[in-house]
Amino acid sequence: MISQNTIQQILGRIDIISVIGDFIKLKKRGASYLGLCPFHNEKTPSFTVSPAKEIYKCFGCGRSGNTISFIMEHEKYSYVDALKWLANRYNIEIEETFATDEQRQQQQSADSLYIINNFAQEFFSKTLFETEEGQDIGLSYLKERGFREDVIKKFKLGYSPEQRDAFTKEAIAKQYSQELLLKTGLVVNRNDQLIDNYRSRIIFPIHNTSGKVLGFGARVLKTTDKAPKYINTPENEIYVKSKILYGSYFARQAIDKADECLLVEGYTDVVSLHQAGIENVVASGGTSLTQEQLRLVRKYSNNLTIIYDGDAAGIKAALRGLDLALEEGLNVKLVLIPDKEDPDSYVNKVGAAAFIQFIQKNKKDFILFQLEVALKDAGTDSTRKAEVVNRMAETISKINKAEDFTKQQDYIKQCSEILKIDENGLHALVNKFIRERIVTQERKFSSTEDNNFVPEPARTDWSDETFNVLFMKELQERAIARIILEYGLKPWSDGTTVFDYMSNAKLFEDKDIPDDKNISLILEEELYDNKRVPLIINEYAFMYKRGLNPTVKEFAYHENNELAILAIETTNHPYELSPRWSQDEMATKVNRRIWDLNYKDFFDEAINGKDSDKVVYHHELDDNYKDDVNDVMIYLKLKKIKRLILTNEHDMKKTQTPEDMRTLIEAHNFLKGQQMALASKKHIAIYPF
Ligand code: UTP
Ligand code: MN
Repeated sequence: MISQNTIQQILGRIDIISVIGDFIKLKKRGASYLGLCPFHNEKTPSFTVSPAKEIYKCFGCGRSGNTISFIMEHEKYSYVDALKWLANRYNIEIEETFATDEQRQQQQSADSLYIINNFAQEFFSKTLFETEEGQDIGLSYLKERGFREDVIKKFKLGYSPEQRDAFTKEAIAKQYSQELLLKTGLVVNRNDQLIDNYRSRIIFPIHNTSGKVLGFGARVLKTTDKAPKYINTPENEIYVKSKILYGSYFARQAIDKADECLLVEGYTDVVSLHQAGIENVVASGGTSLTQEQLRLVRKYSNNLTIIYDGDAAGIKAALRGLDLALEEGLNVKLVLIPDKEDPDSYVNKVGAAAFIQFIQKNKKDFILFQLEVALKDAGTDSTRKAEVVNRMAETISKINKAEDFTKQQDYIKQCSEILKIDENGLHALVNKFIRERIVTQERKFSSTEDNNFVPEPARTDWSDETFNVLFMKELQERAIARIILEYGLKPWSDGTTVFDYMSNAKLFEDKDIPDDKNISLILEEELYDNKRVPLIINEYAFMYKRGLNPTVKEFAYHENNELAILAIETTNHPYELSPRWSQDEMATKVNRRIWDLNYKDFFDEAINGKDSDKVVYHHELDDNYKDDVNDVMIYLKLKKIKRLILTNEHDMKKTQTPEDMRTLIEAHNFLKGQQMALASKKHIAIYPF
């Protein structure tokens, strides 16, 4: 772990404008800086950086964050690697802390393995390019296969010579420990002699996502040899096969940009496709995908296209990963390469343009493909066909996690056509699987639920409320967090702050209601549909109470990264609902519409010249925050009253005695009166800003 001291030093030195300025051109506009967004393609700049708040936001694609998350996102680094990058940039020495001695040893051992691997990689490259044997055997083999020198250098391919201990000797001379050399798999023990493990082989270094060499794949030159085609690094502290995708370091930015990850089987496939200009590609190493690998893909894109050769083994291996991929929320497509070719040989044969075209034309939907394969297997056997139907329904039910309702409907329709069964029947079956899963999940939570509470319709029940109403609600809730973050410390009245006022506000100020029934409204978690909103508010209250000065800037560097991102996304900005805030397409649509209707013209005009100095954020002009605060409180009160009315109505249905009924009716009338009074006080219905 990087020490807190180092992190503080880095945070103290960060200048967001100069760091982001390393990657994109920024122009000063008002209090902020503006540039072309590096995360999506655009012609007019909508990427803004605020030096005061130390955050960036793009109101085109919605991405936002602080300096560290910019480096993480742009360079696809882990948090720690981003810190290391920044430390390096500011010449800050990194001090590491370890909880235990064991951890320290592990870290030291891992560091040493990287160092040895790096040394080995350089040794193999040098041998390939600078020795006679390397050139005559290794380089000529690679060139014969059509690999260009620039690509060989980019992937740092190498050659391990025939001599049995060429590398071992050099490594021992460098005083690397024997134990560690054996651990890397570069060296093996034969009859008490240490010798090179990859003799006479082409070397493919395998990089982690930040470019360090984790291990190697070493290929024989002639496959006629009895020896295995590839020897790979054995599992050790840094080489964990289930977590590795070959090529991820070279592909990460291209995947992000194309919003698609191509998956092939072999090292050579990756290298050849890069050479053809197709860079968003990684390799699995021929085994079926693990959850960790899928998560790695998902860090960059939700769209995974598997490109395998059409033989049965490859397809089976790919299919095994399907349910896992769906559960991870990935959209999976499949392309089969024809005629016993693989992507490497095929792209060499037909050329880059034809290859790309082939991929585009032959992308099959993976779920439908699975159905075809299963149906072919089942033949005319009706019990086996029923099994297929069941399995498909279960597979489709797993799409649920991606929250893509339309997609699920589409699959039900298409699959029922292919299966020649009734669409409604399949629908019911899919619902059965979904219900079963929900029931098991609910059982886990039911003991902690308040049984008297009558819930409003669940968010997935779209029938009553239109999308607009739902997303007005979403915007309202986020407006509450935003107003607290932005205005919480501003004055309210008589030396109190906005947050004092908001956190003390109760539903019925003038009524004699016991305090435990009349708690601070903004802290009532169950009033929020979006559970991330109370997360921010609770943390704000926590910091406020301790005098920790909870400003947007403070939040932007919160040690809990999730909270930091949430806060940044919630704060004042023309693009209110980023696509990442809610994966839901509908949210984006509604949000887009609000944006188009209200603010697009204003910004277009301001940014594109007419009045370019006048780009000022709404909040910088705004001193009407008290109205906003009042509206937010009215919204929360109305929401609470609505819930009380529902609970009350629920009680009415159960009640037996006329007295009870009368009390309930009185309560009902009182609540309705309050509701009307509050509704009439409301200024505006929604807070786009
Ligand atoms: P391939 O046999 O398709 O190899 O295995 P390739 O990389 O395409 O090599 P060329 O084009 O024939 O030269 C696909 C992947 O399976 C793993 C390697 O990761 C390889 O890239 N593999 C294969 C092994 O790990 N060991 C083996 O013996 C064979
Ligand atoms: Mn191949």
